[in-house]
Amino acid sequence: MVDDVVSAAKHLIAGDLVAFPTETVYGLGADACNAKAVARIYSVKGRPTDHPLIVHIASMGRMGDWASDVPEYAIALARNFWPGPMTLVLKRSELAGDFVTGGQDTVGVRVPDHVVALALLEAFENAGGKGVAAPSANRFGHVSPTTAAAVVEELADYLTKDDLVLDGGACAVGVESTIIDCTGLLPRVLRPGAISTAMIEDVTGLKALSVKGQDEIRVSGSLENHYAPAAKVLLCGVPLAGQGFIAHKNIQTPSGVIRLASPSDDEEFAHTLYSSLREADILGLSEVVVIQPVGNGIAVAIRDRLKRAANSS
Ligand code: TXA
Ligand code: MG
Repeated sequence: MVDDVVSAAKHLIAGDLVAFPTETVYGLGADACNAKAVARIYSVKGRPTDHPLIVHIASMGRMGDWASDVPEYAIALARNFWPGPMTLVLKRSELAGDFVTGGQDTVGVRVPDHVVALALLEAFENAGGKGVAAPSANRFGHVSPTTAAAVVEELADYLTKDDLVLDGGACAVGVESTIIDCTGLLPRVLRPGAISTAMIEDVTGLKALSVKGQDEIRVSGSLENHYAPAAKVLLCGVPLAGQGFIAHKNIQTPSGVIRLASPSDDEEFAHTLYSSLREADILGLSEVVVIQPVGNGIAVAIRDRLKRAANSS
């Protein structure tokens, strides 16, 4: 493993792409200071170049390289939730080029909580790197991959022989990080995730705002259509024979319905959501009925992703 990440870090320094596991979803990484390598991320994903990327760093000590004017509440968030499923959007430093920020004057920064990701980022920084730009390792608009096999399934046709995919098992959280805009007086949640509004308010002692609908800040994950499998996602009604079905384990499977996941709590729901949507496509199902979790916490992120997946169908 140590050898693997050291060699993968060398590939990043050389300008190759390295897909790697994080606790949320797999990322497709490139040296965030290398414009050519970052341009390849966009072409491999088929993503519009004005959609900014998150810069991944090994520790919060690196935050000052990428960001300027970090407010106190952002430092409190970083101290409490990094490494973890949270991205902070901050005023950018000179290091953060237009090719990473999509031309905006802000940059998204995150310290992921996964041994392989952290070892890779540390090896990369030891080799002179400053940060790894990484979106989710899927084609634009598709379901994010939560296993190395899913990354290969998504991107094998677009990667070259010098690019790598690191296998770190299934991602623990399963949905993408909470994105918090820290450029205003109050924190503002741009994309819900495992770090909930209540957790943000608890740590900062401030009211956390949230974005409703399309915002002036570009967050491709907040497009109305995103996170979508080929199968049509239905969020109401009773599943019929031949349809896929995802619901809490207490809910029974009607006869002839293909049960894709039976999570026993919201965390397991998030953990299994994307792999079960992928499974629907592998099975060639045309429709999947999902009974959404009702809680706060990570259930908010699950409903957010499902709403967008359903919109794309
Ligand atoms: O959990 C995650 O965040 C994963 C793992 C790999 O870290 N990454 C991820 O990246 O989900 P991506 O690119 O698929 O989604 C990141 C979202 C995008 O919607 C992007 O537009 C937004 O973050 N974003 C990045 N930088 C931003 C910025 N400066 N201002 C506003 N939104 C930003
Ligand atoms: Mg994504």
